[in-house]
Amino acid sequence: MEPFVIETDRLVLDLPIPTDRDRVIEYCRDPLFERFLTLPWPYEPRHADFFLETFVPKGWARGNELTWAIRLESGGPLLGIIGWRRDHGDLGFWLGSPHRGYGYMTEATIAVTDRLIRELDLGEVAWECVAGNAASASVARKAGFAYSGEAPTRLAFRDGSHPLSWHGVFGANDDHSPKSGWPA
Ligand SMILES: CC(C)(COP(=O)(O)OP(=O)(O)OC[C@H]1O[C@@H](n2cnc3c(N)ncnc32)[C@H](O)[C@@H]1OP(=O)(O)O)[C@@H](O)C(=O)NCCC(=O)NCCS
Repeated sequence: MEPFVIETDRLVLDLPIPTDRDRVIEYCRDPLFERFLTLPWPYEPRHADFFLETFVPKGWARGNELTWAIRLESGGPLLGIIGWRRDHGDLGFWLGSPHRGYGYMTEATIAVTDRLIRELDLGEVAWECVAGNAASASVARKAGFAYSGEAPTRLAFRDGSHPLSWHGVFGANDDHSPKSGWPA
């Protein structure tokens, strides 16, 4: 599949590239990532090299892992990453800590969800996070996902476990207004 760029009011979502390496390494060493993400831990430069040189291009070529860099302008510094996995049909995302709290991930999530539904003719886009990841749940809620309950993660964690997680879904005919029923 050919990578496609998505633009929003404030953001450009394009391909993560090898020059993003230093920021990927810096941001993926955030201690929150050990707890909430399935990325390797401790995060080493070779993990960023694999991500940028192999995982991202292969994922696009096969069409099974579509990954975007989040930037303020084309060619600008990386703020974070958002991606969609075909096998689970779900979104995954992170922002470097200096870029949180500006609503960027909500904006990116809405844009990616709409584009995926349109471009791939999907019936729905899913989301999940480890139970208690309030920031992630807040993004999904604000992007208009409906909460569908607690269950083990679909994605296996580093030790092969499937921790309890919160699940949500956005249907092709849904609007982006926040839905009720989310954990407080
Ligand atoms: C999840 C993440 C991308 C959210 O980033 P963000 O910058 O907070 O996203 P947004 O700015 O779009 O904010 C979404 C909302 O969540 C709220 N929020 C942020 N952190 C929160 C927290 N710890 N508890 C409750 N709400 C929180 C924000 O205040 C915002 O709501 P508001 O606009 O009403 O103020 C970011 O926290 C992150 O990268 N975390 C580490 C990686 C991770 O957990 N990824 C998700 C894996 S499923």
